[in-house]
Amino acid sequence: MRKTLVVGNWKMNGTRAFAAGLLSELKALSPWAADVAVCVPHPLLADAAQQLQGTVLAWGGQDCSVHAAGAYTGEVSAAMLADWGCRYVIVGHSERRAYHAESDETVARKAQAALAQGLTPIVCVGETLAEREAAQTDAVVTRQLAAVIALLGERIQDVVVAYEPVWAIGTGLTATPAQAQAVHALLRAQLAAATPAAASMRLLYGGSVKPDNAAELFAQADIDGGLIGGAALKAADFDAICRA
Ligand code: G3H
Repeated sequence: MRKTLVVGNWKMNGTRAFAAGLLSELKALSPWAADVAVCVPHPLLADAAQQLQGTVLAWGGQDCSVHAAGAYTGEVSAAMLADWGCRYVIVGHSERRAYHAESDETVARKAQAALAQGLTPIVCVGETLAEREAAQTDAVVTRQLAAVIALLGERIQDVVVAYEPVWAIGTGLTATPAQAQAVHALLRAQLAAATPAAASMRLLYGGSVKPDNAAELFAQADIDGGLIGGAALKAADFDAICRA
């Protein structure tokens, strides 16, 4: 019922030459049974748009402003991303929450700004190690998602949710499939209380997804794909995950 979605988050990596190489490798490895997208740094969006137009690979941004336009130096609007043909934009990644002090409400406003421009926001939620050890995981992720539901109302159905335990990002530690599935089931139940479309929404897992653990994670009942960091920078690894 739900088509798997695999999204590569390049984070702050890559030059134009790197992008040209990786994107052409990925194009040669395509197609996949899953939907696949890459979220590249903003300066590489033009290259992605040029190289990926007409292919099965979609592209997106890694953040957008809550504002539509104006005197917000350094920010990029959802309309600008849409203008470059983006389909997706990641909002509320834990690195944005941690290093840029983004609140749950700010993340919700970013998701709203993205939807207003026809983009699909990939809304990230996830607990830190301290929060997990304090048995706060459920409270944290439901609080983060609740802020988005409260602002978007029924339009929550047009969002992709990514569960990314902060302690698993870039650490080589991965949530076990059972740990991840438990949180995904919780999030889907929360979504179901907000929209009848919850059963068809895609919930991604992110955090040290690799070729050797992707299949087991994606096989879980409520895990519909992945948000991939480090492994998205190597064509062979990303391709293997897309096939998992
Ligand atoms: O957005 C992607 C995540 O932060 C996961 O990163 O696969 O390098 O752990 P990672």
